[in-house]
Amino acid sequence: MANPLFATKPLSLLLEEMKGENRLRRVLGPYQLTALGVGAVIGTGIFVLTGQAAHDRTGPALIVSFVAAGIACIFAALCYAEFASMVPVAGSAYTYAYATLGELFAWIIGWDLILEYAVASMTVAHGWSKNFQDILSVFGIHLPKALANSPFDYDPATGHFFGTGSVLDLPGIAIAVLVTWVLVIGIKESARFNTTMVAIKVAIVLFVIGVGAFYVDSANWHPFAPYGYTGMSFFGHTLFGQTDKGGQPLGALAGAAVIFFAYIGFDSISTHAEEAKNPQKDVPVGIIASLVICTVLYIAVSAILTGMVPYQEINIETPVSDAFRRAGLPWARFLISLGAMTGITSVLLVMMLSQPRVWLAMARDGLFPESFFGAIHEKYRTPWKATILTGVAVALGAAFLPLRVLADLTNIGTLFAFVVVCAAVLIMRVKHPEAERPFRAPFYPVVPILGITTCMILMFSLAKENWYRLFTWLAIGFVIYFAYGRKHSVLARARASGRVAAPRPVAEPARTP
Ligand code: ALA
Repeated sequence: MANPLFATKPLSLLLEEMKGENRLRRVLGPYQLTALGVGAVIGTGIFVLTGQAAHDRTGPALIVSFVAAGIACIFAALCYAEFASMVPVAGSAYTYAYATLGELFAWIIGWDLILEYAVASMTVAHGWSKNFQDILSVFGIHLPKALANSPFDYDPATGHFFGTGSVLDLPGIAIAVLVTWVLVIGIKESARFNTTMVAIKVAIVLFVIGVGAFYVDSANWHPFAPYGYTGMSFFGHTLFGQTDKGGQPLGALAGAAVIFFAYIGFDSISTHAEEAKNPQKDVPVGIIASLVICTVLYIAVSAILTGMVPYQEINIETPVSDAFRRAGLPWARFLISLGAMTGITSVLLVMMLSQPRVWLAMARDGLFPESFFGAIHEKYRTPWKATILTGVAVALGAAFLPLRVLADLTNIGTLFAFVVVCAAVLIMRVKHPEAERPFRAPFYPVVPILGITTCMILMFSLAKENWYRLFTWLAIGFVIYFAYGRKHSVLARARASGRVAAPRPVAEPARTP
């Protein structure tokens, strides 16, 4: 018998499972899906990390960084869209890997997606806290230092960690708890809440572009690329470009790897395929539309920001709102921080919605305990236990871990998932050329190959510590898989008993007492 580690889940079985009874409610149309995508994308990346990237790594060439990261994401998005149209079930890249690369790879990706969704949420909750504190400071209110930040941070200039003088980030905990509560109540309510917040944040971004354009001084765009256009290393050995004192790459490419964070989230639409009314058509539309909208807005915002403020003076905590403060528009600063906070809340909502759904898909396959991760709430029909676990993890991470480290860990984990999805599209086209593909990534095999290449380049443009953290994370995942998942895998048990795995009810159906 073939090695069960590489057993793939048949496409027909995945599609059959979708018809089961105990599924999530199908309530999302194309606009709501696009709103979920934009909701997941525009947030801490543009409102917070642009400051660090422009100040420390790129200068005005931040604009080029956004173009470069956007291109890598477009390739990956086309591959996600193809898969989402073929296998429109919850689980995203995890499910795609199970269908193509086998159980072990599926596990690796499912485990890796925790970096994308849960660790990203920790980063985002931190970003929310910074904007919240910015608003408080407009009213002269300052949180006690002990409650304002994580207890330590990383200084890229020296390559060392240092104490911040704080104990925990209290607003970060508060927003994680609030979002968890909203998510347990249910997807329909969450989607409505999300659509309102997305409208507010898109309006604020358009405001930044429209009003900021009058305050641009083109002299600030010279020199355009003070750190160069490249910035790539291989485990600490610089291949192209300059490095800082800590040995980290500098330049537009290095900046692209940092602000890649700003694009994360469009793929989370694929985790909602099971809740889409017409997943085969609407999920690809949602993925591509949300990415294109955000790319255009980001390029414009980065041009405005670097045009308004000399790059050395860009604020690294709340760069966009601070640019308007400097321009003598304190009311605009308030408005932008409020909009950023609202926008970041919607990112958190989608990310924290996606994490339990990946766990749900894994639990259905027996790779996580189903009684916990697969439990659907009787009344709200949401994976409530996994949602609460996500909330607790996000609150703890946001409270105690530094934003910079969390952001780069999210970046490397997400880039890795993108590489696997692009590779899986290639494999699936070879293994199952006949499968129905309502959406096909164009220019096969160029798009998936370029997706793999560009995402790998961005991974190598991150500091080497991120690779070590990724390897450590994956090693922990291996231990859990061999201790639990391998033994409980539904597919492996069915094969061992000589049965073909059949679709089955995946958790106790809801009962009323
Ligand atoms: N792209 C999301 C953000 O920037 C994760 O907050």
